[in-house]
Amino acid sequence: MSRAGETSVSESAAKKLRMAVVGCGPIGNLHARAISGSPHARLVAVCDPDAARRDQAAARWNVRAHATDQEMLAGEALDAVTIATPDHLHVEPTLAALGAGCHVFCEKPLATSPMEAERVVTTAAERGVYLAVDYNRRFAFGYRTAQELLAAGRIGELKYCVIRASDRTPRAAVARHPQVMLTTFLTHFFDLLRFYGGPIRQVQAVCGREPAGELMRSVSLSFQFAGGAVGTIVAGYRDGQTRTAEWLELGGTTGAIVVEDVTRRVSLIESDPDRQQTFAPNHFVGSDAFYDSLVEHVQVFVEHIARDAPPPVTGVDGLAGMKLAAAASESLAAGRIIEVPDL
Ligand SMILES: NC(=O)c1ccc[n+]([C@@H]2O[C@H](COP(=O)([O-])OP(=O)(O)OC[C@H]3O[C@@H](n4cnc5c(N)ncnc54)[C@H](O)[C@@H]3O)[C@@H](O)[C@H]2O)c1
Repeated sequence: MSRAGETSVSESAAKKLRMAVVGCGPIGNLHARAISGSPHARLVAVCDPDAARRDQAAARWNVRAHATDQEMLAGEALDAVTIATPDHLHVEPTLAALGAGCHVFCEKPLATSPMEAERVVTTAAERGVYLAVDYNRRFAFGYRTAQELLAAGRIGELKYCVIRASDRTPRAAVARHPQVMLTTFLTHFFDLLRFYGGPIRQVQAVCGREPAGELMRSVSLSFQFAGGAVGTIVAGYRDGQTRTAEWLELGGTTGAIVVEDVTRRVSLIESDPDRQQTFAPNHFVGSDAFYDSLVEHVQVFVEHIARDAPPPVTGVDGLAGMKLAAAASESLAAGRIIEVPDL
């Protein structure tokens, strides 16, 4: 177990990180796939209270299975763990792993409240270990290409960012409170706004009308960035939708970038709207399935930890996501703009 900043490059390059996954659902298995495919780490164990799931994952990845994270942390001398438990069960295993001196890669959302997220971020800092949160969209073809074009100055200075997103209506185990969309789904898009536009200072929200206490199914959010640009997210849940549907436009002083499909196509519109340059992934190099961005993010985390560098998406980003969700919620309740301290 190494503390952040204490391992020399040659020392870390020589040894593989001993890693484990907490939670053996579909996402935990993606974490396991990523770690198993990394040249910098060795997956040694998984844990899950569900015996069938942990045994299946242990057999699939050829590692030991534990019923609890405490048992696993006590027995495996781990350097880093990934957390893939349900949203409301991220904090306890994250704190336990940080307490055991492990670096942690936690699925989004980092917690279920800003207070809990703050505690997790503070604990990582006190323990001197790295903490990352899985905002994997930053690694998906369309969003990454848009960031590269923006950074290369192809649309001038960013002035607006518009996102439309929908997902299937969540199952009851996930829909634990009416505004769950803000923390479980829109947290990704709060992060994308910050990825492109930097810190946010104002949030305003309105939502569609639903019977009291029922799941919020549609919401419209407006943001002002500290740098002066504006952003909008319009999102909804649809019954039976098979995957997320997402669309993004970045508008700048000299052009616009449109991500029509995050896995397939990005358009750059410079001066003439009738002349667009399109970008598509190379199907022969790399991969273009949506969840490859999640696998890549885990591997980027591992590679950074192995050379003792801070991961690209940190607990502080996860905390900002929680604070923006809380500000949106406050705006819905109060019916006014909420000022946030440059998140
Ligand atoms: N980044 C993304 O794009 C993305 C996509 C989908 C889901 N997610 C997130 O990934 C997480 C997991 O999603 P999933 O669909 O695999 O969930 P899931 O509910 O299918 O699986 C979670 C597993 O964690 C286990 N678990 C519960 N408490 C545990 C504990 N204390 N220790 C160990 N295991 C425990 C459960 O038994 C279950 O097997 C969620 O937070 C979800 O929001 C992220």
